[in-house]
Amino acid sequence: MRRKLIAGNWKMNGLRADGVALATTLAGRALDASGAARELLICPPATLLVAVGEAIEGSGIALGGQDCHSERAGAHTGDISAEMLKDAGCSYVIVGHSERRHNHGETDSLVRAKAKAAQAAGLTPIICVGETQEQRAAGQALSVIESQVHGSLVDAAGAGRQVVAYEPVWAIGTGQTATPADVAEAHAHIRSLLRYWYGQETGEAIRILYGGSVKPDNAGELLAVVDVDGALIGGASLKADDFWSIAANCP
Ligand code: PGA
Repeated sequence: MRRKLIAGNWKMNGLRADGVALATTLAGRALDASGAARELLICPPATLLVAVGEAIEGSGIALGGQDCHSERAGAHTGDISAEMLKDAGCSYVIVGHSERRHNHGETDSLVRAKAKAAQAAGLTPIICVGETQEQRAAGQALSVIESQVHGSLVDAAGAGRQVVAYEPVWAIGTGQTATPADVAEAHAHIRSLLRYWYGQETGEAIRILYGGSVKPDNAGELLAVVDVDGALIGGASLKADDFWSIAANCP
């Protein structure tokens, strides 16, 4: 049984006061709902990791980073290593988000190197894949997803300690959500690739999240799709009521 993961990606949003207030509200609700089956995760900007980590301590909500470097340490001005995220209290890190792939030119092989660095530091990487609007319109959605999964995921030895997030680029931050049928097709394809590459047992155990304009009013139907093992939520994770309503309705 795969435990559903509801993850908030705050992106480059939040100063200390509002970030801590949001985290404190969520921590209170999570405590009241302790025992719920789903797992909760928030990924604030790096500047807020420690303060948010303190606010959610003991609530059962996990803390994650939004990116990490592929090396442990060194002359990489402005970058953060996986070990530093771990040291700040993280247990997860997002890698290969389309905003990193497109705004920073990150390639599949770099994403894989980051995912491996995350695992080496004791973090679980959440590895993002997803096609653009043009690729979908050209009928290439599944082949793009396949090549990103093939190029970005870790090899068999660490296969069980990763999460995949399917995030169609055209659905991110646009309010345009993929239909449950689109999501079902993409997730089934990813699942079959995972089974083929890693074997039945490991391939079945890896969680596949959906991300892209997940909101309280569409989360129920998306989270009910077979092989959707949770959600990666951007905009709606910045509002306590919206994030909570998604989490609370998670089947
Ligand atoms: P969104 O972002 O929910 O604002 O579309 C999702 C993501 O980028 O992870």
